[in-house]
Amino acid sequence: MLKGKNILLGITGSIAAYKMANTASLLVKQGADVHVIMTRNATKFITAETLEILTKNKVFVDVFDEYEDKTIVPHIELGTSADCILIAPCSADVVGKIANGIADDMLTTAVLPARCPVLICPSMNVYMYENKIVQDNISKLKRFGYSIIEPTEGHLACGYDGKGKLPKEEYLVEQVLDAIAYEKTLKGKKVVVSAGPTEESFDPVRFITNHSSGKMGYSLARVARMKGADVTLVSGPVSIPMVDNVKGVMVKSAEDMFNAVTKESEDADIVIMAAAVADYTPAVVADNKIKKKDGDSSIELKRTKDILKYLGEHKKAGQFICGFSMETRDLIENSSEKLSKKNCDMICANLLTEPGAGYKVDTNVITVITRDGLEKLPIMSKMDCSAAILDRIQKMMGETRI
Ligand code: CTP
Repeated sequence: MLKGKNILLGITGSIAAYKMANTASLLVKQGADVHVIMTRNATKFITAETLEILTKNKVFVDVFDEYEDKTIVPHIELGTSADCILIAPCSADVVGKIANGIADDMLTTAVLPARCPVLICPSMNVYMYENKIVQDNISKLKRFGYSIIEPTEGHLACGYDGKGKLPKEEYLVEQVLDAIAYEKTLKGKKVVVSAGPTEESFDPVRFITNHSSGKMGYSLARVARMKGADVTLVSGPVSIPMVDNVKGVMVKSAEDMFNAVTKESEDADIVIMAAAVADYTPAVVADNKIKKKDGDSSIELKRTKDILKYLGEHKKAGQFICGFSMETRDLIENSSEKLSKKNCDMICANLLTEPGAGYKVDTNVITVITRDGLEKLPIMSKMDCSAAILDRIQKMMGETRI
């Protein structure tokens, strides 16, 4: 998602500096060209060589460090060629310097000419963080348009417990993605996504479920958030972590999902039903564990409410409803039928047997079906697939609805 993007990583003197090797590596894995400036104190916690090997770029420390090409002015080049600057961990000292326009080392000097998003993650002892001068400097940075990544609470390296910890590396990368991966074309829109399987209990210890991993829905929620939407993710039980910075609603049964999705969809602009909702649920739920008896047994099932159909029938003005369809044969025929039966605007159809499609994998092969026709998308990562689906939804909303 960061192919062709230039990321400038600023690392300052804090024990958490060691986490930046992994952060740099994760950014490189996203396709970014990562450049690093370290303060002199940062080099006490992690070596410049480590970051040079990981990024394959020269690491700058001293304000007079040069490129081989002496005609390039490093602090101007580093600051102005960046698509995003991430300063993490950012010490109280560097927070104060940037907030007050002080540029007395390579990092603070390179930040001044920057025109791109600058993300600053203060990371320090809890009492230093709570200090009114530090807080005032942070407020000042926010006022001037710098983005502050809040430190997390926990046990700090100095021995204290409280706020001041550098967030996880993956979270830092997620903030960079939020800043620059996509244009904020969904700003001001509420997107509701459902994901994962449902669990239909028939006694206190057993339930019926399916193989859904939730990956497709979680990717859709992530990309929608990166595009600036206000996202609610209604999820059945899955083993992957909740998407950061969305409203997460965890549910179990199809009935719970119906209640959560219909409530959240009241004021939604876009609703995407990616969940594998059970079509049937046990007619009776036993109060106690059902004991085995001689001979065979069976469970009586009753139909669940069809959430997508309900949403289609109660569509709000201007609302866009997208469903998913997983088939093992007659993909187009069966999925097109769902489009009209459930009165939705789009069905994303995928064939379980197609290589690269299905529940557990990180890729998908989708055919987008609308009343205007169908479009088969090539095999893509579920993140790219999500972006492609959202692009098509927005195109249709722009063309036909807003
Ligand atoms: N869906 C729903 N509520 C249900 C069941 C499914 O909202 N009770 C949604 C799914 O989230 C998905 C779409 O409907 O977006 C799938 O359609 P569906 O006809 O339920 O698919 P299948 O269960 O695969 O259909 P069938 O049993 O007819 O093959």
